[in-house]
Amino acid sequence: MEQFNYNNELSGKIALVTGGTKGAGKAIADRLLQAGATVIITARNAPEQENNNLYFIASDLSTAEGAQKVVKEVLSGYGRLDILVNNLGGSSTPAGGFASLNDEDWESTLHANLLAPVRLDRGFLPQMIERKAGVIIHIASIQGKLPLYDSTLPYAAAKAGLRNYSKSLSNEVTPKGVRVLTVSPGWINTTASEAWLGEIARNSNSTVEEAQQGVMNALGGIPFGRPAEPAEVAEFVGFLVSPRASYLTGTEYVIDGGTLPTI
Ligand SMILES: NC(=O)c1ccc[n+]([C@@H]2O[C@H](COP(=O)([O-])OP(=O)(O)OC[C@H]3O[C@@H](n4cnc5c(N)ncnc54)[C@H](OP(=O)(O)O)[C@@H]3O)[C@@H](O)[C@H]2O)c1
Repeated sequence: MEQFNYNNELSGKIALVTGGTKGAGKAIADRLLQAGATVIITARNAPEQENNNLYFIASDLSTAEGAQKVVKEVLSGYGRLDILVNNLGGSSTPAGGFASLNDEDWESTLHANLLAPVRLDRGFLPQMIERKAGVIIHIASIQGKLPLYDSTLPYAAAKAGLRNYSKSLSNEVTPKGVRVLTVSPGWINTTASEAWLGEIARNSNSTVEEAQQGVMNALGGIPFGRPAEPAEVAEFVGFLVSPRASYLTGTEYVIDGGTLPTI
């Protein structure tokens, strides 16, 4: 994507991006950095390529202790948090519908996709409310509206819950000075997704292009004809957390190249 000059519009802001070492989270962290923010990232494993401009906290955010650790380290190390991007999420449960899933599948998915943001919001909101300032972004998914029950039943349910929770939270804390927004991407072309396409192609003796078309067909087609690049999602998040989006709160933004079939 073309490089813009963001005029250091986030200069002086402290931002946290969960799952900021890979995929969309990495692109969001880079984008906030470009706009001048101090950016902290979290994941279970350190980033593959070290970037001295990003501050890394190792933590498993699917646990309550992991979330507490991040809140404590950020607030003791930086004194406050201005921008919280709850990006971490994903699905690793087996396909096959309801009967293939056990409690562990449901719990692990709900913990990472719904409870991690709930716990981090709870940890960071008091100081945002006290200062009457802050922005919280919840990265959901179009699957919150377009469930693919055969492959990602718990994930879609968790993301639907996240969208609903995000709206409720916005109603509660916007009058106290904190903006809360949901961003629901469609398919994103991450490194993990590239590897996954390669695997499908190998297993089905087809090309990567054919595998990509197969995934797009399963989604009902993507009018844009391709998945989003992580930087395209990051660019939108960068705008939403900036002062240019000062009146935006309590809404969900879909960024899916036209995938969702309804308005
Ligand atoms: N990719 C898509 O097509 C797509 C579509 C719609 C929505 N989304 C949403 O967009 C967001 C980003 O997805 P992505 O595909 O870009 O992610 P990704 O490439 O799979 O990266 C996931 C990130 O989260 C970290 N992570 C995973 N489990 C964790 C845990 N338990 N505790 C702490 N960190 C953890 C990973 O690092 P470690 O493994 O080292 O912990 C990594 O940094 C997610 O909310 C996802 O649901 C993605």
